[in-house]
Amino acid sequence: MKILIFNTPEEAAARVAAQITTTVQQNPEARLGLATGGTMPPVYCHLVQAHERGEVSFARAVSFNLDEYVGLAPTHPCSYHSFMQAELFGQTDFAPQNTHLPHGDAPDPTAESLRYEALIADQGGVDLQLLGIGPNGHIGFNEPSSSLASRTRVKTLTQATLQANRPYFDHGEKPPQYAITMGIGTILEARAVVLLATGAGKAQVVAEMIEGPLSAACPASSLQMHPQVTVVLDQAAAAALKHRAYYHTVHPEGREDAA
Ligand code: PGA
Repeated sequence: MKILIFNTPEEAAARVAAQITTTVQQNPEARLGLATGGTMPPVYCHLVQAHERGEVSFARAVSFNLDEYVGLAPTHPCSYHSFMQAELFGQTDFAPQNTHLPHGDAPDPTAESLRYEALIADQGGVDLQLLGIGPNGHIGFNEPSSSLASRTRVKTLTQATLQANRPYFDHGEKPPQYAITMGIGTILEARAVVLLATGAGKAQVVAEMIEGPLSAACPASSLQMHPQVTVVLDQAAAAALKHRAYYHTVHPEGREDAA
């Protein structure tokens, strides 16, 4: 794993955005795996700004989001479709037919999961997968105990995840209990992965992901098996890492020109 520790969350988000921008500049038809969650808007803001400056076009890029809530139509304001539209797609030149998310309102969510998995494969797989991490170690909605070989499927969300997502739903409206999520096996097939974690609330789980055992108890630890993973952190999210001094030696303040 390449572990980059930046002084601020802003610098960390800028580094992640730069990797996405470079990927699309080098291959305008790049297939991006995208993520939602409170950590991602600063990344998408950088992408929108780069697009506005004329540095990058997403017109031929293809995107696959990690997950979507079961039962929510794309037009529901709390759907991940709506999140992506507001934060990225609606502010850039992504072609609507090239931006894919699972359909949470599909009549048969299991069939929809199979369709989504096949669609990713048909399009040639993901070139760069963007990830956040849940405080319980989930990537996508692969909650603890998810098979490390899992494919896109319906998962039941944990109480901790439901609690974390409650603020995104209107007062009184409960977050859905189920989601369609890419599996861990699906995620591990991406050619490259970049994971962003910021803030003290992620420090413990970041240490488990990087330095703990490979275990379904921390689904993000599965990334230890992937040959092209960059973990981008701010100081707060890196605070519980035992080998922090080593990571700083390799990449002082997140710089990659030092080695
Ligand atoms: P967050 O969520 O960015 O809102 O912390 C990350 C996740 O649950 O994957």
